[in-house]
Amino acid sequence: MQLVDDVVSMKDEVAEWRRTLHADPELLYDVHNTAAFVVDKLKSFGCDEVVPGIGRTGVVGIIHGRPGGNGPAIGLRADMDALPINEITGVPWASKTPGKMHACGHDGHTAMLLGAARHLAATRNFTGSVAVIFQPAEEGGAGGREMVKDGMMERFGITKVFGMHNLPGLPVGQFAIRKGPLMAATDIFDVTIKGRGGHAAMPHQTIDPIVAASAIVSSLQSIASRNANPLESVVVSVTKFIGGSAYNIIPETVELAGTVRTLSPEMRDLAETRIGEIVRNVAAAHGAEGTLNYLRNYPVTFNHSDETDFAADIAESVAGAGKVEREQPPTMGGEDFSFMLEARPGAFIFMGNGDTAGLHHPAYDFNDDAIPVGVSYWVKLAEKALAA
Ligand code: NI
Repeated sequence: MQLVDDVVSMKDEVAEWRRTLHADPELLYDVHNTAAFVVDKLKSFGCDEVVPGIGRTGVVGIIHGRPGGNGPAIGLRADMDALPINEITGVPWASKTPGKMHACGHDGHTAMLLGAARHLAATRNFTGSVAVIFQPAEEGGAGGREMVKDGMMERFGITKVFGMHNLPGLPVGQFAIRKGPLMAATDIFDVTIKGRGGHAAMPHQTIDPIVAASAIVSSLQSIASRNANPLESVVVSVTKFIGGSAYNIIPETVELAGTVRTLSPEMRDLAETRIGEIVRNVAAAHGAEGTLNYLRNYPVTFNHSDETDFAADIAESVAGAGKVEREQPPTMGGEDFSFMLEARPGAFIFMGNGDTAGLHHPAYDFNDDAIPVGVSYWVKLAEKALAA
């Protein structure tokens, strides 16, 4: 492993920041304490610009290289928000707020990018500029989209973007990446089945929305098995089935909800079209009325080819030969960094978190041993991308 010396020596301090953030988890856009912590640190490092309030509660820090360099910027991005989960780790730095915890390691992502910002601001061994991007609301709030919509890329002259996420199960000191689709588009849908309620003992006088909705749930499974090319990926999961109030009443309506995960625009269009057809027509076959509300949420996290090679090479320069998986299979999870990758070329990489509990698990904790690896990756990436 080829870590940056100064980065190794700051590990304990960065871990301290990480644990401070971990103890005070905040959700979605409500990351005021975290953003204030970030602003405070960036100012203390001597960043040339520190701008809060981008995409509501996001923060961008700008570090110009030398000499006098304030040319095109590359964006390095971390996420700041936590999850609505009750923490069970029992660690001394555990969440002080019941029902909220950093179960995805965004505390570690934020601390590592702060560590990189400190080193880059102190050494300035590059031309152009580095934009360190701290986004709110990665966990379902599309904070990345908000920052892009706020004009972040244009305002700071950002030409390329890079993101990183820890990955439990991958050993510390290793990375994984792939070109093209790395993570799925994550859409959500709501369905209403309107029948005609009545007495459960006289079903012939009703239109039973529970039976109709059950048929719809079954039929939706045929999108993956019968409509999609078997060599392509699509997930349609119904995650809510709400209806009824008593043993002897057939309800008037049933509500369904769920998520759709796809890795290509074609499959995304297909899934949306077929769900609509199935909801309307299967409901109609039961005499009921089915309506679909389909919301396109995060797009596919699509890694650009040249930037993926570049990121993998940097990771290998940190981790060593054979420690970077360049053909990581895509996952059907989603990632808000996808909006930044739609706006600018770049790449998203996974970094090993070791043998810990999984992401979004109440026993998960970011692995502080990964800090020097992640910070070294950021520092080397910025210095190489902006080499004189
Ligand atoms: Ni995450």
